[in-house]
Amino acid sequence: MATPILKWAGGKRQLLDELYARFPADYDRENDAFHEPFFGSGALFFDHEPSRGTINDRNTRLHNFYVQVRERPEALIDRCREFGDPESDPDPAVEFAKEGRDGRAIDQYYYQQRALFNRRPNGESFDPLDEAARLLYLNRTGFNGLYRENSDGEYNVPIGRYANPDWVRAEEVRAASEALNRLDAGDLHNDDYAYVLDAAEPGDLVYFDPPYEPMSPTAEFTEYSAGGFDRDDQRELLDAVLELADRGVHVILSNSGVMYDLYDEAGLHVDHEGATRAINSDADNRGEVDEVIATTVAPADRQAYGDRTLGEF
Ligand SMILES: C[S@@+](CC[C@H](N)C(=O)[O-])C[C@H]1O[C@@H](n2cnc3c(N)ncnc32)[C@H](O)[C@@H]1O
Repeated sequence: MATPILKWAGGKRQLLDELYARFPADYDRENDAFHEPFFGSGALFFDHEPSRGTINDRNTRLHNFYVQVRERPEALIDRCREFGDPESDPDPAVEFAKEGRDGRAIDQYYYQQRALFNRRPNGESFDPLDEAARLLYLNRTGFNGLYRENSDGEYNVPIGRYANPDWVRAEEVRAASEALNRLDAGDLHNDDYAYVLDAAEPGDLVYFDPPYEPMSPTAEFTEYSAGGFDRDDQRELLDAVLELADRGVHVILSNSGVMYDLYDEAGLHVDHEGATRAINSDADNRGEVDEVIATTVAPADRQAYGDRTLGEF
């Protein structure tokens, strides 16, 4: 079993049991395909390690990262070992030793790496392995492991504060590489999630984990890349879910609690997750940790509890 290499906003490690509990009884990991069109750190994919299917993320540098993990894990690990302490001085032998792209003085190694990571959105030539290694380095040393881009597509997260940041992650990279190698190279997509309308076949399982609709109009919205995902996108995604369901493709999706009514009215089986405790113990905190899991899989058609564990013996 592999685990995510990256920290990612909305990572789903806490929700794995709830997601598995909705897997259809007639879905079989060895023969049916599994698709994850909003991949991020891929918590469910890496835990599940399907033998067929596709993964996708619209974030181009994240896609390149997984291609490198799949194709060249040892070279990626070796490259990551070359990075220095994020708080140390910039390397004078390398570009951006003194000034960043905005002309401001660079006084820490982290900011030099950040400027180098932004070669691609600035139309400069870049090395895909270098870029992937920098993504991992910045993810492990940047503030909160956040991934955020400005409107020009430049990664702009400030340095984080960690006692002992680990940016090599050799074991995680190797295990993830094996999991990704169960798929064919062409199964790693860098597209809009809608590609899955062509890719998925009856009997397949699709897990959609889109950027969450904000709980309130003023709530901060997590931007994973320049572009965003708005209310119209959420409705279009629901249309895609219903189209897949019509064709006999199983779908599970997660989102914030505000989507409950929309999913319920569309005929999906939908449950609040994490809200039960808050509602029972403290009515004032209702909805505080509210997210929903919706699915086309009716309760009677789900795998019996424990199927996953039994299957692994
Ligand atoms: C909530 S995160 C997924 C988290 C993931 N389940 C995990 O465990 O880390 C959503 C992801 O969708 C990607 N994304 C945003 N809009 C997209 C789109 N239209 N098509 C495909 N991916 C998109 C973002 O780059 C982000 O990585």
